[in-house]
Amino acid sequence: MQKVTLIPGDGIGPEITQVVKDIFEYMKVPIQWEEVEAGEHVIKDYGTPLPEYVIASIKRNKIALKGPITTPVAKGFRSVNVTLREQLNLFANLRPIKSLKAINSKFENVDLIIVRENTEDLYKGIEYKIEDIATSIRIITRKASEKIGWFTFNYAKKNNRKKVTAVHKANILKLGDGLFLDAIRNISKEFSDIEYEEKIVDNMSMQLVMNPEKYDVIVAPNLFGDILSDLAAGLIGGLGLAPGANIGDDVAVFEAVHGSAPDIANQGIANPIAILRSSIMLLDYLNLSDYAKQLESAIEKSLFDKNVLTPDLNGNGNTLTLKNKIISFLS
Ligand code: NAI
Repeated sequence: MQKVTLIPGDGIGPEITQVVKDIFEYMKVPIQWEEVEAGEHVIKDYGTPLPEYVIASIKRNKIALKGPITTPVAKGFRSVNVTLREQLNLFANLRPIKSLKAINSKFENVDLIIVRENTEDLYKGIEYKIEDIATSIRIITRKASEKIGWFTFNYAKKNNRKKVTAVHKANILKLGDGLFLDAIRNISKEFSDIEYEEKIVDNMSMQLVMNPEKYDVIVAPNLFGDILSDLAAGLIGGLGLAPGANIGDDVAVFEAVHGSAPDIANQGIANPIAILRSSIMLLDYLNLSDYAKQLESAIEKSLFDKNVLTPDLNGNGNTLTLKNKIISFLS
């Protein structure tokens, strides 16, 4: 049986990954979880938020489902998420943003794919500070830009997508984003069936909140991709709904777009849909598409009942009521 590394993570992570475990068990999905612990809460035992055995488990199984992990702001240890992506060379962060019929959001037909470069840009974390002057170095390489470019266009082709929009700030970051754009533009020429356009990130942000239906696949350097992902999650009803995958050449780590949500942790009200949709991506990746379709359909049906929805969706329910409703549609 396929083994899958499971990292519950911090904050709401254990509550929402438990929902995936319960539902997969109910569905008798033919995988075996290998549960490992990473995050702020393991530092006291391991002296690090990312113990070596966690990386070893993912390298062995080549696939993982990960809950969110807390990163201290303006101090403390480096992001575990960033370190994992770097150490496993998970170069693409794939974030589908798709409207759900049952959810009343401002837009009904959003169907975007955000492809975020996942290994460089400001996330290299190279910073210096001398007295009151701080410098943060932004790294953009042709190698990583080409890698994400090929990934994006191959994904678009395989999934019958019509348009790729490259997002940048090359009017100001002439060298860094100039290089990123040059790499993506060259690759676009190999895909004559796919429309290609470029948008400056500030304009793109406005376009997305005005006319999200006009966009299809968006490719962006790391930081812009990160910010646009949360913005796009807001278009379909919030962070509780947006899934993601970190993809490498032969390793993939699936996780929601959202973070550890410390403001609602341990209250039983976290929305499990984003991590469940990430687990659907995982099932598709493992060619377990029948299970993926079954779960997707159960989720869609369950979201029509306001009484079971979590508070972030203006519902009167909680994590458990939503899980039970989904299970009721799996029989
Ligand atoms: P966040 O995504 O954790 O929360 C933002 C807001 O959305 C909060 O009000 C939260 O309650 C709400 N929210 C998020 N997920 C939800 C869910 N499933 N159900 C209901 N409401 C939900 O972002 P924030 O607060 O900026 O970051 C908290 C921590 O998470 C930080 O330490 C940050 O570094 C970390 N983080 C980790 C990520 C990861 O592990 N991949 C990604 C983003 C942030």
